[in-house]
Amino acid sequence: MNYHHAFNAGNFADVFKHAILIALIDALKAKATPFCYIDTHAGAGRYDLRDEAPQKTGEFADGVQRLLIADSLAPTLRPYFDLLRAANAGDANGHLNLYPGSPLIAAMSMREGDRAILCETQDEEFAALKALFARDPRIGVHQRDGYAALAGFVPPREKRGLVLIDPPFEAQEAEFRTIGKALAAAYERWPGGVYAIWYPIKLRRTLQRFYRWFATKGIKKTLAAELLVQNDDSPLRLNGCGMVIVNAPWQFDLRLQPLLSDLMRILARDAGAQQRVEWLTTE
Ligand SMILES: C[S@@+](CC[C@H](N)C(=O)[O-])C[C@H]1O[C@@H](n2cnc3c(N)ncnc32)[C@H](O)[C@@H]1O
Repeated sequence: MNYHHAFNAGNFADVFKHAILIALIDALKAKATPFCYIDTHAGAGRYDLRDEAPQKTGEFADGVQRLLIADSLAPTLRPYFDLLRAANAGDANGHLNLYPGSPLIAAMSMREGDRAILCETQDEEFAALKALFARDPRIGVHQRDGYAALAGFVPPREKRGLVLIDPPFEAQEAEFRTIGKALAAAYERWPGGVYAIWYPIKLRRTLQRFYRWFATKGIKKTLAAELLVQNDDSPLRLNGCGMVIVNAPWQFDLRLQPLLSDLMRILARDAGAQQRVEWLTTE
């Protein structure tokens, strides 16, 4: 595998994904009972934007940096921004150089009784994750194939929680089939879990089969949120991305709509930028 998330850390797709992740965890916290967060493709957990990899691509400049230099901050983005600040609280000059990945975002959002399970296959990323959470008893870090491990982790003993499936999509179209297999097996064991699946968008019209898959499998309450930062007229570049949320929390569509409008306003690259929030399946 050639993929290292450090090259993409803080890009527009991360901003989109992580702002939604924070909202999902916030919705879980509406109940006092503990929840379990499962991250099948965890990455390194945290990235220093001054490192060689992110500096080489500079992708964060059209992502998180746009938010940091914006004249004003939309209220919908406040929780994400506050979390970035908290992740950089140790910086004496107030710089926001450390970009939190999904595991750190979850860990910072979780309460004392909540729990997280993180899977990561690559040695370097796994070692970084292990070190980051070495002193956090709430968090289990596993060097395992997250797709293969998922069904064994569900249902968690808390009987409530969120699974984030955020693969590198190195297999391109074939990745959707792998996601489908892992998700179907997990859903069968735990139909009440919340599952969030991130996916890239090159041409939106190629995603029809993925959208239909949820209905054909009888998977309920599935919401799709999408952001195109530019016209999806080229299959050769990442024009946008989406998140499908199975068992989306109550009225989560209404919560996402203003968030996506604000994200689009900040992250748009041309007039082809679009966003949508749509139910793929209901009850
Ligand atoms: C897109 S990155 C994850 C980013 C992370 N979720 C975040 O938001 O900060 C995908 C990660 O999955 C890892 N990976 C690839 N295949 C995997 C597998 N089958 N199981 C677990 N991890 C895998 C890669 O090494 C990479 O670190």
